[in-house]
Amino acid sequence: LPPQRKDVEAASNLAMLAARAMDCRACALWQPASRTVFGEGPEHAPIMFVGKQPGDQEDLQGRPFVGPAGQLLDRALQDAGLHRDQIYVTNAVKHFHFTWNGNRRLHHKPEAEHVAACHEWLNAERRLIRPALLVMLGATAAQSVLQQPVTISRTRSRLFPLEDQTQGLVTVHPSYLLRLRDEDSKQREYAHFVEDLRLAAGYMM
Ligand code: URA
Repeated sequence: LPPQRKDVEAASNLAMLAARAMDCRACALWQPASRTVFGEGPEHAPIMFVGKQPGDQEDLQGRPFVGPAGQLLDRALQDAGLHRDQIYVTNAVKHFHFTWNGNRRLHHKPEAEHVAACHEWLNAERRLIRPALLVMLGATAAQSVLQQPVTISRTRSRLFPLEDQTQGLVTVHPSYLLRLRDEDSKQREYAHFVEDLRLAAGYMM
């Protein structure tokens, strides 16, 4: 068994699970990172959002989606009639992956091995929360949940059942919207993102 499996199974609530994840050493990312950034939100949230991995701000503050991508997510949630306090937000990988460039920390994508090492934590969050809807933000999140390669453009914007009866919804990652340069595409893509989140809002009781 991977070292974390028994820790994961012994946790009977989210606080316990998050506490156990603080000492996770299942991949190499724990060492350079400041801390584990676990998911947060109500224990019985009807909607769970999965992102990619914590960035610089998340690593420093110890909370998911608090940097620029998180601020965009908060705004889009609001425009879709949702609020951050109502939903559970987590990541496929729970440590920041970076290299130093002078005194700046440069973000790197997580490798497949990091996603695989973290998968048990994500599964355990899903088992405890049992959301009605699981929203996957971007390809890394979708691939971790669905365990197969995912093309966002072909998968997004429609609801489909996952193996545990939760409904799944794939959409873009908010950092994709931050990277767009052209003002028209930025507005169009943001509107499409909010439309996807409106589908999610239907699951809020
Ligand atoms: N991007 C993510 O995928 N997750 C975060 O927590 C922050 C930025």
